[in-house]
Amino acid sequence: MGKLIQFIRKKSNRFTINYFPLTKYRFNMFRYAGKGKRLSLEYKLAPGSKFYDIVQTIKKDGIAVVKIEDLFPDKTVLNDLLEEFQAFSNTKDFKDALQKGESKDNKNYLIRSGYFNKTLAVETRLFKMAVSSPFLSIVTNYLGSVPRLQFAEYWYTIPQKDSGSKNSQSWHRDPEFSMIKVFLYLNEVDNNAGPFCYIKGTHQQGELGNILPRKTPNGPFYPSEKEIFDKIDKSNIVVNTGSLGTLIFCDTNGFHKGGDAKLNPRIFAYWTYGGPGTLFGLYFKPTGDLTKLSPAQKFVVEKINL
Ligand SMILES: [Fe+2]
Repeated sequence: MGKLIQFIRKKSNRFTINYFPLTKYRFNMFRYAGKGKRLSLEYKLAPGSKFYDIVQTIKKDGIAVVKIEDLFPDKTVLNDLLEEFQAFSNTKDFKDALQKGESKDNKNYLIRSGYFNKTLAVETRLFKMAVSSPFLSIVTNYLGSVPRLQFAEYWYTIPQKDSGSKNSQSWHRDPEFSMIKVFLYLNEVDNNAGPFCYIKGTHQQGELGNILPRKTPNGPFYPSEKEIFDKIDKSNIVVNTGSLGTLIFCDTNGFHKGGDAKLNPRIFAYWTYGGPGTLFGLYFKPTGDLTKLSPAQKFVVEKINL
C-alpha cells in the first residue's frame, strides 16, 4: 500500500513539474523557506567583511570572481582537489571518453565525474568544499536561505576544433529563479579553452534581469544572439579567462555560456546550489558518516521530498 501511494505521489509530482512548474516551484520554495531561513542565521555575515563584499558583488552583477586562497588560505585544499581530479582522470571511464573524443553524456563534449559516479563520499574534498563555511556563507547570504546542493563534480571539457556551439555553449538562462553555481578552475583557462562567459546584470535581481525573462523553471532557455544583443549592450559580457585557482560565483539564471573549447581542455571543480525547495534536487548520494554534519549542512545535502 505504501509503495502504491509513493508511486501515485511520484507520478502526480512529475505531472505538476511538467505542466505547472511555476506553481510547483513556488509551493516547494514556500514549503521549505522557514527551515532554510532559520538555519541561515549560522551564516550571517557582517557588513564590510570579505565574504559580505563578494555577496554584494554577486547581487549587483550576478557574478563575482576571486582566487581560491581568498577563501581557503590553506594550500592543501587546492592540492586535494587536484589530486581528486587526477584520480578521476586515471579511471577507465575517463580515459575511454578522452580517447574517443566524446563522452556518453548529453553534453558529449564534457567528461563529468558525476556522470560515472552517482555517489560522493563525505570525506572527499569536493564534498567538504560543498558544505564548507566560506561557500555556504556566500551562497546562503546571496539566496537568503541555506541552499540545497544539486551537483558537486569535476568537469573536463574536450577540445573540439570544429564542433560549433551547442547547448550550454550558447547563451542561456538556467532553469531556476534562485540558484548559484561555483566554478573553480583547475587549469589555466584561456580563450581557446572555452572560458565561462556571463552577461552582467541579467540575473533576476539585476538591472537587466527582466530582459528576455525566464517564464517557468522548466528547462533552460536559449534565445538567439540577435534576440539578446538587440536588447543588451555587448559591453556587459564578461569573459572569465583565468589561471589555476580562479573561483567564480555566479547566478546562472542570468545569461551565460561556456565550454566552447577549441584547442585546450578546460578543467574545473563545480558545485551547483538551488533554493531551499528546488525542483532539481541532489543528483548524487552522499556516502559515509553524515552524523558529524551540522543541521544546516545536513539540509544542504538532504534529498528533497518533492
Ligand atoms: Fe547553464
